[in-house]
Amino acid sequence: MAVKDQLYTQLNNGNTIPLLGLGVYDMHNDEAINAVECALQTGYRLIDTAAMYENEKQIGEGIRRSGITRNEIFVTTKVNNTDQGYDETLKAFDKSSSLLDIDYIDMYLIHWPIKGKREQTWKAIEYLYQNGYVKNIGVANYLLPFLKEMQDYSSVVPSINQMEFSPYLFMDKELNYCQEHRIVLQAYTPLVRGEKFTDPKLKTLAEKYNKTPAQIILRWAVQQGISTIPKSSNPIRIKENFNIFDFEISSDDIHQMNHWNENHRIVDDPMTMF
Ligand SMILES: NC(=O)c1ccc[n+]([C@@H]2O[C@H](COP(=O)([O-])OP(=O)(O)OC[C@H]3O[C@@H](n4cnc5c(N)ncnc54)[C@H](OP(=O)(O)O)[C@@H]3O)[C@@H](O)[C@H]2O)c1
Repeated sequence: MAVKDQLYTQLNNGNTIPLLGLGVYDMHNDEAINAVECALQTGYRLIDTAAMYENEKQIGEGIRRSGITRNEIFVTTKVNNTDQGYDETLKAFDKSSSLLDIDYIDMYLIHWPIKGKREQTWKAIEYLYQNGYVKNIGVANYLLPFLKEMQDYSSVVPSINQMEFSPYLFMDKELNYCQEHRIVLQAYTPLVRGEKFTDPKLKTLAEKYNKTPAQIILRWAVQQGISTIPKSSNPIRIKENFNIFDFEISSDDIHQMNHWNENHRIVDDPMTMF
């Protein structure tokens, strides 16, 4: 099957989102511009940034330099924790829009579930969506209690929930909830920042499929309809991470990987952070 036919999944509002994207956390200046340009020229069509990453200007520049038509590219950014609240979120959205300078934002997310701010922040994001300022809206780091709480105050179901997720942090309750409510789960820190590349179970699968450990983990996600956003600013690894559409992991091996959970978390636990 052609890469293009495997790259996309549908959101609950009928729009589509690429299953594989480039995460740009901790990239700055030319590094960020070059990584985005390289990724788009490689075939990536999703870029995941955030106000918190302080590189939206460079991401916009990389997009323009790539020469890829704007409407082929899906750009996500997020409201920063310090900007949450109704009016603050609207202001933050304007700032991100002008820094990116790419006509429109495809996806706007709440970056973290901040105590006392979740409802008003979501209402502002709904306002942006319902009035056509942004094409899709969602949340990040929403563990099950936050997702359930949203049912009481939201009028739009988020179209994605971006959370730390990997075979080593297999959040089955959140995955089930998202699948039941047609919310696309998007896995961040999918490569566990390389910490598990020497796991013998992963190395065995990499040898079996003649792929790298990174490619096995990314294919594992995409094959289950889980969107995934590995970060790399190295052109060779940017290409390596995209080269996952020419093989298939057997359903038995997928099943095994779904049982590798070690609750291995790299980023803060959203339950205890605030
Ligand atoms: N919503 C949130 O709260 C949240 C939190 C964290 C992350 N995120 C998003 O998720 C994205 C990805 O997560 P992450 O950056 O934390 O971690 P990650 O993607 O799991 O790992 C990135 C690290 O792995 C290296 N790497 C990438 N590809 C590799 C490969 N094929 N082989 C060996 N090493 C490789 C990268 O180095 P090189 O660059 O040198 O290749 C980098 O050091 C972020 O960039 C961000 O967009 C969101």
